[in-house]
Parts: sequence; C-alpha cells; structure tokens
Amino acid sequence: MNIEILKQTAKQMVAPGKGIIAADESAGTCKKRFDAVGVECTEETRRAYRTGMFETAGLEQYISGIILYDETLRQKGSDGTPVPELLAKKGILPGIKVDAGAKDLALHAGEKVTEGLDGLRERLTEYKTLGAKFAKWRAVITIGDGIPSDACIHANAHALARYAAACQEADIVPIVEPEVLIDGDHTIEQCYEATETTLEEVFEELDHQGVAPEGTILKASMVIAGKKASKQSTVEEVADQTLRALNATVPKNLAGVVFLSGGQGDEQATAHLNKMNQSGKQSWPLSFSYSRAIQNPVLKKWAENPSANLKAAQDILLFRSKMNSLAAQGKYSDEMEKERPY
Ligand code: 13P
Repeated sequence: MNIEILKQTAKQMVAPGKGIIAADESAGTCKKRFDAVGVECTEETRRAYRTGMFETAGLEQYISGIILYDETLRQKGSDGTPVPELLAKKGILPGIKVDAGAKDLALHAGEKVTEGLDGLRERLTEYKTLGAKFAKWRAVITIGDGIPSDACIHANAHALARYAAACQEADIVPIVEPEVLIDGDHTIEQCYEATETTLEEVFEELDHQGVAPEGTILKASMVIAGKKASKQSTVEEVADQTLRALNATVPKNLAGVVFLSGGQGDEQATAHLNKMNQSGKQSWPLSFSYSRAIQNPVLKKWAENPSANLKAAQDILLFRSKMNSLAAQGKYSDEMEKERPY
C-alpha cells in the first residue's frame, strides 16, 4: 500500500467543485433503466450511450471520476480509444464497481448482504492494469419491521472493510458505500437511527482491518424520510440530520464524503447537497456520486432518438453536472434550474 498514491487519488476525487458520476449499473440494472425509456439493452447500446456521455465536451470541469462496470472498462469510445484512456485523457479518473451484488442474507428475511470478496485481490490487480484508480462496493441496509438487524449491519460492514483493505493494498482508493434505502414509509428519525448505527459499525470495521481513512471515500445515503412516509422531510431537515449522522460517526481524517441519490428527484438531490455545503465548514469535502439524479433526464433525451439526440443529451449531462458542482460548493439556487436545457 502506497499511502501517498491513495491520498493523491482521493484528493483528486473530491477536488473543490468536482464530483463523481456513477455509470456502473450492472447489465441487469441497465436493462431496467433502458426498458423504462424503450431502448433495447445490448452490449452495443450500453456502449453507445455510455461513451456518448463520457465524450461530452467540458465534462471534466465538473466531474473528477466516473464509476464503470466491468464491461464498460473494456469497451472503446467512438474513435476506438479504450474507455479508461478516453477518460484519463480528459483528466477524469476511471473507477470500477467490484462487488458482485446484494444477495439475500441467510436467516434474515428481507435483508441483504453484498458478496464479491472471492478472487477480489486478483480482479483488482487486473483492473489496475486496465487503468482503474478507484473502486466501489455497495451494501444495502433496509429499514422495516424490526430491521435492520445487527447481523445485517455487521455482515455488510465487515465485507466493506475487507473490500476496502484489498483495494488499498492495490493502491486503489475504495469508495465505501453503505446505502440505507429510501424505500418504505419510515420516518426521518428511523433513517437517522439506522444510518448512525451503520456508519458507526462500518468505521469500526474499517479500523479493525487497518484501512487508512486518508485514502478512503465514504459514499453515504442522506438521512431522509422514506418515499412512502406520510410526512416527507424538508431540505433543512435532510441537511441537518445527515450532517449530524456524519459528525457523530465519520473520522475527521477521512478523505471525503460523496452522496448517492437513492431515488431522490434530480433537483431534490442537488438542493440537499447544496444545503449541506451552505451549513458551514465541515471536516471533509461533501460532494456527489449520483447515478439516477444525473442520468435520468440524459437517458430519456438520448432514448428518444439515439443518433439525432446525442448532443442534446450531452448538454443535459453537462447542465446537471454543473448544478451539482455548484451544490458541492454551496453556490446552487433553484433559480438556476430555469436555464435547464430540458
Ligand atoms: P443513485 O444515485 O441512483 O442512487 O446511484 C448511485 C449508486 O452508485 C448506487 O450504488
């Protein structure tokens, strides 16, 4: 492990005004997204859509890194340049999703544990030669009747720590993502409780495995009421409660925190990030690593006519990236949405 390389990469990932695009949907998840907009999901359509996004002129002003799926890391852009090289040429760091997905947790109905540790060391070695500078592993925590259980939180936290240690051994920065799901009718207080307990356990396990916080990025879910809750959270509540959970659990020397959007609306996810960054100086840079909250309008426009709408889809990608870049600096306002090209 070379801590200087890890620190340098992590710093670049959360450089001021920059954030990460998650474009690492598995072929199955990608099919769901493509089905929703009526596009056939094949290796070639996935390549065309994704490399079309990556080739957006000026994207590097707002985006420090893009998380890829195994297939995409091996694909080529429109002029035949391998995707990792295409990104690196623009100054965008290529990242790679390395988990094998969330599977049912034995003896715990309704709960999941993320798998993928087997052979991880070898896969990381290969990903490094292909150009990956950082990685991602997502664990999911579900709130419901009597859950999350300690067993679920512990199993996921332990796997995240084993993954993070393997990454750092290969000089690849781990994005550690324990996602507390927004699905359900839970209150913001229940979400706070689950988030705080999970983060506490995750950082304890990371410490046990000897993972260096200075070379680690947390990908956090925001503290927010469930999508079906009768009382929805205000922007202020989400910002306050999320910062409270982070301040209670995250080591001060962690390199940075990026958020997932988790099913929030595009503008909602931007507004929440902005509010947090307007709430005074925090111990870590707070930025974004959105998939749906950036890609939803982009994919929709592209899908209407993939060959004719590429430029229009790229304009939308650039716009949402800029809005989130401003939010990462606390400089966004909803007035700016009037300029949106969609
Ligand atoms: P969403 O922003 O759509 O939640 O995706 C982020 C992500 O990478 C989930 O692992």
